[in-house]
Amino acid sequence: MKPYVISNVGMSLDGKLATVTGDSRISCEEDLIRVHKIRAKVDAIMVGIGTVLKDDPRLTVHKIKADKNPIRIVVDSKLRIPLNARVLNNEAKTIIATTEKADKEKMKLLKERGVEVIVCGRDKVDLKELMKILYNKGIRSILLEGGGTLNWGMFKEGLVDEVSVYIAPMIFGGKDAVSYVDGEGFKTVEEAVKLKLKKFYRLGEGIVLEYVVLR
Ligand SMILES: NC(=O)c1ccc[n+]([C@@H]2O[C@H](COP(=O)([O-])OP(=O)(O)OC[C@H]3O[C@@H](n4cnc5c(N)ncnc54)[C@H](OP(=O)(O)O)[C@@H]3O)[C@@H](O)[C@H]2O)c1
Repeated sequence: MKPYVISNVGMSLDGKLATVTGDSRISCEEDLIRVHKIRAKVDAIMVGIGTVLKDDPRLTVHKIKADKNPIRIVVDSKLRIPLNARVLNNEAKTIIATTEKADKEKMKLLKERGVEVIVCGRDKVDLKELMKILYNKGIRSILLEGGGTLNWGMFKEGLVDEVSVYIAPMIFGGKDAVSYVDGEGFKTVEEAVKLKLKKFYRLGEGIVLEYVVLR
């Protein structure tokens, strides 16, 4: 058993999550509110360490009124997370998923600060195993908020159930700009993750597309 995973991003029309310099201010105010409404409904929000290092997000619900914040999960094989990262503040519980390679001293420091550290995997976090562990902790729904490398890991392992994307009317270009799903990519169309469109609508200047992942 695993939690139900919703992948959400804001991207440019050419599928980029940020420009080549890492500028990721893509969402309009209406979209931020949409995302915070999803955050308020799920048990947890998950990001990769790349996103924490680049954007230093709080990953809380602060654009709308909500009773509680979801648990924040950071996927970080080597515990590269800075101790002053905003995702470690006391606004919500934080879980860091790491590996046997992680520095034990840093792990101790994080635990002392009330952060839960889950060790699963040798070099890279074993995402399938992580999903099982999180489910057993009572986490039934996760909003996956990227970035492109973690998105690939989750799609490749077949762990995503639903997709919602906000497409801003912008073109970023740049072969090194992070895209919605990076990693090695599937080799054939046959292997690709297939989706079924459920809903689409205009939001601000952009559009929102919602899909379910077909198995
Ligand atoms: N527009 C949007 O909606 C949006 C949303 C999120 C992020 N972003 C942008 O995306 C960029 C960050 O994306 P990113 O691709 O560089 O980083 P990322 O996906 O946030 O994090 C990737 C890192 O996660 C760690 N990881 C551990 N186990 C993994 C596994 N099994 N599979 C995949 N990753 C694993 C790896 O680092 P270790 O090996 O050190 O563990 C990997 O490099 C930023 O520019 C951010 O602004 C945009």
